[in-house]
Amino acid sequence: MTADLIGRLREVVGPAGVLSDPADLAGYLSDWRNAYTGTAAAVVRPGSTEEVAGVVARCSEAGVVVVPQGGNTGLCGGAVPDSSGRQVVLSLTRMRRIRDLDAANQTVTVEAGAVLRSVQEAAAAAGLLFPLSLGAEGSCTIGGNLATNAGGTGVLRYGTMRDLTLGLEVVLPDGRIWNGLRGLRKDNTGYDLKQVFIGAEGTLGVITAAVLKLFPAVRSRATAWAALPDPQAAVDLIGVLRELAGDRLTGLELMSRRSVEFVLRHSAGARDPFGDPHPWYALVELSDTLPVAGLDAVIESALGEAFERGVVLDAVVASSSAQAAALWGLREGISVAQNHEGPSLKHDVSVPISRIPAFVERTDRALEAAVPGIRIVTYGHIGDGNLHYNLSKPVGGDDDEFRARAGALARVIYDSTCAFDGSISAEHGLGQSKREIVADYKDSHELDLMRGLKQLFDPRGLMNPGKVLPGL
Ligand code: FAD
Ligand code: MLT
Ligand code: ZN
Repeated sequence: MTADLIGRLREVVGPAGVLSDPADLAGYLSDWRNAYTGTAAAVVRPGSTEEVAGVVARCSEAGVVVVPQGGNTGLCGGAVPDSSGRQVVLSLTRMRRIRDLDAANQTVTVEAGAVLRSVQEAAAAAGLLFPLSLGAEGSCTIGGNLATNAGGTGVLRYGTMRDLTLGLEVVLPDGRIWNGLRGLRKDNTGYDLKQVFIGAEGTLGVITAAVLKLFPAVRSRATAWAALPDPQAAVDLIGVLRELAGDRLTGLELMSRRSVEFVLRHSAGARDPFGDPHPWYALVELSDTLPVAGLDAVIESALGEAFERGVVLDAVVASSSAQAAALWGLREGISVAQNHEGPSLKHDVSVPISRIPAFVERTDRALEAAVPGIRIVTYGHIGDGNLHYNLSKPVGGDDDEFRARAGALARVIYDSTCAFDGSISAEHGLGQSKREIVADYKDSHELDLMRGLKQLFDPRGLMNPGKVLPGL
């Protein structure tokens, strides 16, 4: 049966497009962190939408599960097949064409396998900006960004993938192609179906292309690193920056001292901008689409005001783009640096910005009571109310013992998140890692409606099952 299907898939994509030798499959069977591993009957690499449709239709006829995969940088195991060896991984990485860039419409039409950085570069070459930006941008794909509704460091000003998308092309679970590649900013002809596929983590269909919004290029930028006494100061800093810099505020990231310490320890060339350690840090970025000479003066005066109000303890403003990149390196390097400290238990939560200080205080207390000596690595996109509440084992602790506590520690964080009316996944999604636990934190009617959508789009349950939806 499997050999028969593999033969038919080869007819669709050619012999080189189907990998079935175990030696060729390895890179597709584990995620970036090796946190999830599965097996597969084959990995199929189509080169066009029609080929994706052919592959999905053949798998549907054979009753075989399809697992869409992009750059495999997701953090919840969504792109990893199960261990049955019967699933087919559908890798989009050969579909990376920029189909069209319409400067007058400020849109770009790209295939799902295009690496995020290549789309940023295509926009820049046309004097425009595609603003999605995140640590994995050199490897993650537009399809994966859409399927996880990725966020990152530009959300404060430009929004998430949902806000950046005007149209989609999707291969449905039975192999039909839905062409919704409309580059329209206004379109009220009924339900907004593209939004159903965005954030669905490949459980409703395979995204093959998208029309994305472009923006005027940034022509001036000011970047600063500030030391803060506590998370309340970070919330107050947002207020000061909004008051004095308005819409020029493009990025605001918060990092605990421990998060930065990990980068200083493990990232070659990383340097502490201050002589003495401080409990918390903020990375602030202002930008303008005009070549504004005085943007450094704006950031300096805003941070000066914050200093006067006791919000900021110390601050440095980058005096060159190399210095700005070094400051961003301290922020973007946290995720990788933490991996050097043993297992990294990731939690990606959001709460209303105003409630962050109380949330952090309560959550830290509960975690320290649960595992004395636990190393809490808190950082994230505070301007969006999104914190990465990552955990490392106590110094000298045992990896397996710590991993065994993962479920209980997640509950500590999620109970606290729930008490502050937050979400247990702000930007990474549910994948396999949170698909059961979400049932305890999400309204049951909402979950019923989600199951109804799944039944409507994928009645035979062949599109990335075991992800997102509890019990399915
Ligand atoms: P994959 O990992 O391959 O897949 C992710 C999910 O999407 C899976 O469920 C998969 O089945 C599905 N999928 C993939 N392609 C398709 C498709 N064409 N059609 C349908 N479904 C598809 N995320 C953020 O939001 N913000 C961050 O700041 C951020 N920082 C990160 C930093 C690092 C260092 C790393 C490693 C990851 C980070 N992430 C962040 C996680 C983020 O979700 C991914 O990097 C990215 O969006 C996933 O893209 P991918 O192509 O790697 O998708
Ligand atoms: C980040 O913002 O660095 C990532 O989304 C968080 C992570 O890797 O845990
Ligand atoms: Zn993030």
